[in-house]
Amino acid sequence: MRMPVTTADPHIPSERVSAFECARRFTKPPRNVTMLTREFINDSLYNPAYGYFSKQALIFSPRKGFDFSAFRDSADFLKTIGRHYQEMESELDDVRNIPRQLWHTPTELLKPWYGYSVARHIINQYKAERDSRQHNEPLVVYEMGGGNGTLMVNVLDYIREQEPEIYNRMTYNLIEISTKLAKKQLRRQAHQSSVPHSNVNIINKSILDWSLRVDDPCFFVAMEVIDNFAHDVVRYDFETGEPYQAFVRVYDDGEFEEFYESVSDPLISDYLNTRASLTNPPYRSPALSSALYRRIRRQLPLAPNLTKPEFIPTQAFQFCRVLGKYFPRHRLVLSDFYKLPETVPNAVDAPVVQTRFSGVMVPCETYLVQPGWFDIFFPTNFELLKQMYDSICRKKPIPGSDLSLSRICTQHEFAKANAYLDKTRTRSGENPMLDFYENNKFLLS
Ligand SMILES: C[S@@+](CC[C@H](N)C(=O)[O-])C[C@H]1O[C@@H](n2cnc3c(N)ncnc32)[C@H](O)[C@@H]1O
Repeated sequence: MRMPVTTADPHIPSERVSAFECARRFTKPPRNVTMLTREFINDSLYNPAYGYFSKQALIFSPRKGFDFSAFRDSADFLKTIGRHYQEMESELDDVRNIPRQLWHTPTELLKPWYGYSVARHIINQYKAERDSRQHNEPLVVYEMGGGNGTLMVNVLDYIREQEPEIYNRMTYNLIEISTKLAKKQLRRQAHQSSVPHSNVNIINKSILDWSLRVDDPCFFVAMEVIDNFAHDVVRYDFETGEPYQAFVRVYDDGEFEEFYESVSDPLISDYLNTRASLTNPPYRSPALSSALYRRIRRQLPLAPNLTKPEFIPTQAFQFCRVLGKYFPRHRLVLSDFYKLPETVPNAVDAPVVQTRFSGVMVPCETYLVQPGWFDIFFPTNFELLKQMYDSICRKKPIPGSDLSLSRICTQHEFAKANAYLDKTRTRSGENPMLDFYENNKFLLS
C-alpha cells in the first residue's frame, strides 16, 4: 500500500541502487529509487555525505575518567553524567544549528577501567596460548569501530604499564568506517597518553570491504559496532513458509513504500540457508505462527497473506564470513546489546529508531525515516550469532592451535572475571561496572 500522505507520481520510473552507488553518486538522499532494506539502512547510517555516522553522531566522552569513590551511589553517578551530557549538548546546539546526536558507551563512561578489563582478558588469553607453546608470535590486536579511540588508548596504556615486554613487540590496528572518527582516533592516539603510542595503524574502511588476509594469530575486538550493522527484512507466506525479501521504494516527494518479492538476493538466501543448516530441526522464525493459528486465520476475511516482518542480520553474517576468510587465527572479543527497549513494534528482532531533538530522545515506529537523521540499531540474538559464528569461523581445526568454539557471557560475568572492581565501586557498594549495561553480552572465542 502507498503511504496515505504521498503526493508522488507512482508512474515515474524507479532505479534500483545500492548503498555503495549512493555513496558514489549522491550528496543528498536520492528520490525515485528502489533499494533492499539493508542497502537503505546502510545508506542512512553511513553515506559519506548525509549518513548519520558521517554528520550527526558524536560519542559522549568525559574529559577524564570519573573518581567512583566520590559518588554516594549509582544514582549519584547517573546524575553527574546527566549534567555533563546536558552541558555538552547545549554547547553543541549553541555552536551549530543542527541537533547533534550524542550517545554514550561503557568504554567512555567507565574509562579507563572498561578498556583495562578488555586488555586484561586479552593478555590472559595471549599468555595462556604462549605458555602452552601454541605460538610465540607478537601480540596483534584488530579493533573495528573505535569511536573516539578511547578503548584503543586504554588497552595500550594498560599493556605498556603492566606488560612492557609484550607491549614492545605488539601492534594495534583500528578499522574505522567513518573518516571523521578515524581522524579523531589518530589525534587521540598521538595526544591522549603522556607518551604517544607508535605501534598503531588506523585504517579508514568498512570491515565489510576488508580484503587482506591476516595469517598471524590475532585478537579481534568489536565493542558496540554490530548493533548498527544493517539488516534485511523478510516476511513469510502463511501457507507455504516461503520467505519474501523487502525493498524500499523512495518516491519523488521523498515518501517511502515497502514491498516484497521472492528471495533473489544471494546474501539473504545464503543467510537463510546457513541458518536452516545450523540445527536439527532447523531454526524456525518466531514470525511463523503455529498451525492452529494458521487454520483460524484462513477463516478470516481480508487476512494478509504474509507474516509480520522479521529483521535478519545479513551484515553480521557477512562480518562472520570476513572473519572466517581473512582472520583465520583470530580470537574474538565482541560485546553488544542483546535486548533493547522501545524497538519498532510488530516485527521480529526489530531495531530501535531514534533521534535526539532539543535534548529529548524521539523514538520512531518505522525505519522508513529521513536518511541521516536517525540512529538505527538492533539487539543481537547472541545464541544465533554464536551458532552462525562457530559454523563459519570454527568449522576447520587450525594446525597447531586449539581455537575452540565461542562462548557467551554477560557484562556482569565478564567484569567479574577481568575488571578492577574496587576502582568502580561507589561509597554505597553499588558498582556501575557490574550493574550498568545489564542488557549487554559478550561473544568470546
Ligand atoms: C557505537 S560506536 C562504538 C564506538 C566504540 N567501540 C565504543 O565502544 O565507544 C560504533 C563505531 O563503529 C564504527 N563502525 C560502524 N560500522 C562499521 C563498519 N562496517 N566498519 C568499521 N567501523 C564501523 C562507527 O563509525 C563507530 O566508530
